Amino acid sequence: MLAADDARNRLDSDRIVRESFVEQVRSHETIDSTNDDALEFCRNNLCSVPLLVVTSRQTAGRGRGSNQWWSSAGALTCSLVIQPAYFGIAEQQWPKASLTTGLAICLALDTLARQQEVALKWPNDVWMNRRKICGILIEVGGRRPAPTLVIGIGINVNNSFAGAPDELQEIATSLVDTTGTVFDLTEVLIEVLGEFERQLARLRDDDRQLAAEWRARCALRGRFVELEAGRQKIQGTCLGIDADGALMLQTPTGQERYFGGVITQIG
Ligand code: BTN
Repeated sequence: MLAADDARNRLDSDRIVRESFVEQVRSHETIDSTNDDALEFCRNNLCSVPLLVVTSRQTAGRGRGSNQWWSSAGALTCSLVIQPAYFGIAEQQWPKASLTTGLAICLALDTLARQQEVALKWPNDVWMNRRKICGILIEVGGRRPAPTLVIGIGINVNNSFAGAPDELQEIATSLVDTTGTVFDLTEVLIEVLGEFERQLARLRDDDRQLAAEWRARCALRGRFVELEAGRQKIQGTCLGIDADGALMLQTPTGQERYFGGVITQIG
């Protein structure tokens, strides 16, 4: 349907700068990981932010913990470097950045692919029709001249899973698989960046509706899950996400809130 070198898979850096809040784009044909490049670049340079690192091919994409992120041609893989203070975001609000980014991606996907079920899988995945379409990896970058966050985003756009093993097709999807339409990656990215900027402004303004929207999008609510948090493995029924971004679980010993961890099983 789409050749790997199709123009729609190429990102137009000038247009991204013109049509979004991003001020600088570092574009690589191939790179190990856009997050690693962003972290390294900001360590060694006084980078002007907001900076975006993009690539057509990642050879060692990273997920949360020790996970890898594997993506083929047509996926959107990028890392955004921001100084939260520039957006008026205080350091105590950083833990909410992941869900805020996730919500922004949900809203962008709603616009790009109408009438699909787009949900947040706490803490940092986006699902479309109960399959993973996006992963987010947020890391703390350099602190000079001001603290930065590196927001890594991988969205399955034109990379179809149609030929992938059944086990993978059951858990992952892409925009092209869901809609049958090939997308222009630059347009997808500009939509995502626009939503990101709008949702970040809501976080800055302490908009209470923001948390209500995370809650409404929670894919795990009512499901029995296993959460790995450090050395602990906790099982319980998900009660949703609270206003602080914590996952609420009904466990055999009572109701608990968790601010981090990996969901290892979903019943
Ligand atoms: C996850 O699912 O655990 C998070 C995946 C994050 C993948 C993106 S792709 C762009 C950026 N660079 C990386 O190495 N990882 C993130």
